[in-house]
Amino acid sequence: MEKILKGKLEEAEKIIESGLDAERVRQILRLIEGPDYSVEFIKELTLYSELLPMGREPPFTSRQRYLHFLWDILDKLPICLFVNFAMLFRRLIAEHLFKKCGIGFISEENFRFNFGQHIEVGDFVFFNRGVFVDSKGGVTIGNQVCLTEDVRIFTHTHSESSHIIREYGPVVIKDYAKIYTGAIILPGVTIGEQAIVAANSIVSQDVPPNMVVAGSPAKVIRERKAEGRVGDELDHIWLY
Ligand SMILES: CC(C)(COP(=O)(O)OP(=O)(O)OC[C@H]1O[C@@H](n2cnc3c(N)ncnc32)[C@H](O)[C@@H]1OP(=O)(O)O)[C@@H](O)C(=O)NCCC(=O)NCCS
Repeated sequence: MEKILKGKLEEAEKIIESGLDAERVRQILRLIEGPDYSVEFIKELTLYSELLPMGREPPFTSRQRYLHFLWDILDKLPICLFVNFAMLFRRLIAEHLFKKCGIGFISEENFRFNFGQHIEVGDFVFFNRGVFVDSKGGVTIGNQVCLTEDVRIFTHTHSESSHIIREYGPVVIKDYAKIYTGAIILPGVTIGEQAIVAANSIVSQDVPPNMVVAGSPAKVIRERKAEGRVGDELDHIWLY
């Protein structure tokens, strides 16, 4: 990576690791050429998720709040167009905010989530642009998984008799699964290892390993044509 961008990234990492407060958020905003908000103003920050009637969600710590904010603001700044910087900046935030973030995590722009602290991702996971993860009920993603453009995952729903009563269902996506464009994964679903979810599917039930599902509601259409390959042999290499 270019020297200037690398320097910014290293500096941001040092600041995040030294403990985030409003002043340090201000310093990171300066590094990513964001708005020159005052410390007082940054202290007033509220996230959208904090305005929701709280069900099971614990309140955000100020560190989590600031990390969420830095994640969201990056994609609104011109510097996000420096893809080589933006992807590594997102990875840095994910490593400090997610419940677990394996090595090599890549996220394209406009990946949004509501409670990063309830997201677990394994190694070499790739989220393409426009992914939305409602992680209220917990999302666990294995190794070498990809979610392509505009995939949406939901882990909670509302009681039909009272909107403020929530029902939670964690979503699990196992190793080497691929979720194609526009698919929607509903609460409580587990996607089996090496399974494929076809574009635009709505997945309301568990997907068996090595199977391809498609449609709404998604049904098994066939086995994955893996030609005997398993795991790393499937060449889940997302970017060079
Ligand atoms: C998963 C996928 C590859 C399957 O495509 P395929 O190999 O052409 O599918 P098949 O030929 O095995 O289809 C079997 C049946 O399922 C249907 N089907 C396939 N994909 C479907 C989909 N996304 N939604 C609904 N039905 C689908 C086919 O029409 C066929 O139905 P038929 O038996 O009545 O004719 C494809 O649906 C897909 O999602 N491609 C990825 C697109 C994408 O997101 N690209 C971005 C990459 S970053």
